[in-house]
Amino acid sequence: MRPHRIPPQILRLILLTLAIVGVYSVARYFLTPASFGRYGWYRAAALGEIAAYPPDYAGKAACAQCHKDKAEQIAKGPHKALSCESCHGPGMAHVGNPDVKLVKPAAPLCLRCHEANPSRPEWLKQVTLADHYGENCLECHVPHQPNEAP
Ligand code: HEC
Ligand code: HEC
Ligand code: HEC
Ligand code: HEC
Repeated sequence: MRPHRIPPQILRLILLTLAIVGVYSVARYFLTPASFGRYGWYRAAALGEIAAYPPDYAGKAACAQCHKDKAEQIAKGPHKALSCESCHGPGMAHVGNPDVKLVKPAAPLCLRCHEANPSRPEWLKQVTLADHYGENCLECHVPHQPNEAP
């Protein structure tokens, strides 16, 4: 019987496979971020990085500290569930320094939520501009209490 020999084409395939696995392992070692895998399949350091962003939104409770009247007014009407900042924009800078003005939004804001659109839920009251009373919503609706006459 002849001695056992690996045929040369199989040897080449084995060497090629070893080379690919080797390059992959080296690349993986150098390219994997340090904190990857500490908690799971993500970079653990990303949590701290995201938490370190300065917040843009202050939340309703912060607004109510200085605008108690507005907070009380809105709590009585159908807009009670809305955040102040969904209409006035991010307010953290204004909370820190009221000289930084917040927007007093104009009428088109209302259509952002109330313009008739079949993809909206039915519980949200919707108007078709052409069938409603006109585009200057604020003439007839108080934004903080939209069912009351101004
Ligand atoms: C530290 C107190 C303070 C806090 C907190 C505060 N405001 Fe104000 N805000 C003021 C003062 C003072 C003015 C200017 C006087 C005024 O117009 O009543 C003002 C004015 C405004 C105006 C009118 C801007 C204009 O052009 O006339 C809006 C709108 C407003 N604030 C919304 C908010 C919202 C929304 C929040 C929460 C994110 C908030 N404020 C938090 C003190 C505060
Ligand atoms: C549905 C959108 C909406 C929400 C929610 C809302 N606002 Fe307003 N707010 C407006 C509009 C629109 C104006 C401008 C009214 C105008 O020009 O007559 C305004 C005006 C103001 C003003 C200026 C003073 C005034 O009466 O003109 C202040 C202060 C204010 N809002 C504070 C708040 C606070 C505080 C909250 C949360 C408790 C809040 N708003 C929630 C739409 C909103
Ligand atoms: C961020 C979304 C949003 C914006 C912006 C907004 N609304 Fe609303 N509005 C709501 C929600 C949510 C309700 C409560 C559900 C309902 O009654 O449709 C509501 C309720 C209402 C109602 C009461 C409907 C009823 O009889 O029950 C009126 C009127 C109204 N809004 C008018 C306005 C006007 C005018 C503006 C602009 C100043 C405005 N809304 C801006 C979300 C919004
Ligand atoms: C000339 C006055 C006037 C103007 C301008 C006006 N509305 Fe109204 N709106 C009313 C009255 C009155 C009602 C009471 C119910 C009715 O007649 O439809 C109402 C009802 C609503 C309702 C509740 C609808 C429902 O199905 O119960 C919404 C939402 C609304 N308006 C949003 C708006 C928006 C958004 C604008 C601006 C594009 C606007 N309105 C402009 C007078 C007005």
